[in-house]
Amino acid sequence: MIVRDATPDDLPAIVAIYNAAIPGRAATADLEPVTVESRRAWFAEHDPKRRPLWVAEVDGEVVAWIGLSSFYGGRPAYDATAEVSMYVAPNFQAKGLGRELMRQMIAACPHLGITTLLGMYFDHNEASRKLCDSLGFEQVGHLARIANLDGAIRGLIIAALRIEERS
Ligand SMILES: CC(C)(COP(=O)(O)OP(=O)(O)OC[C@H]1O[C@@H](n2cnc3c(N)ncnc32)[C@H](O)[C@@H]1OP(=O)(O)O)[C@@H](O)C(=O)NCCC(=O)NCCS
Repeated sequence: MIVRDATPDDLPAIVAIYNAAIPGRAATADLEPVTVESRRAWFAEHDPKRRPLWVAEVDGEVVAWIGLSSFYGGRPAYDATAEVSMYVAPNFQAKGLGRELMRQMIAACPHLGITTLLGMYFDHNEASRKLCDSLGFEQVGHLARIANLDGAIRGLIIAALRIEERS
């Protein structure tokens, strides 16, 4: 697996991997596929030195991505806090790829000036729960019954990893 900064040319693959997760109703609150065009501004918000967006390639194919985004609209007092998002293509899930990508991102946090990493996932997303728990994230919040996924009312877990406490 090769992990590298994403380029604009990767956006169609990034969007395709994201869209593949929408029908499962466990990963994201988007209910319809998103377009490449609609994600350009989101892509541009990333910065390799502070809020990276990485892709993982296997045999030349982009099969996963992981990115950091600023917390709470990027208000300056939260500069050292970032939310992590990660999506692995269906055929490559449950093979340890997500864990490896998250490990690499956690290792990069001190260089990115990040002391708190936040994971936010639906309370029925077992893969995200297992992954975050096993990497030392602590559940700090549970917004119960906050999302309506085709009539199924789900909650959101907020999990935090304190980077300075690990180093
Ligand atoms: C969640 C996700 C990023 C995890 O990455 P992954 O490469 O599939 O996961 P890994 O193989 O590294 O395994 C991590 C843990 O998740 C578990 N897991 C993986 N897929 C699972 C599934 N479908 N159901 C339940 N547990 C699962 C693994 O058993 C492992 O648990 P362990 O620590 O107890 O061994 C990936 O499955 C994915 O992209 N899912 C769809 C999108 C999504 O939910 N993104 C997160 C949005 S918050």
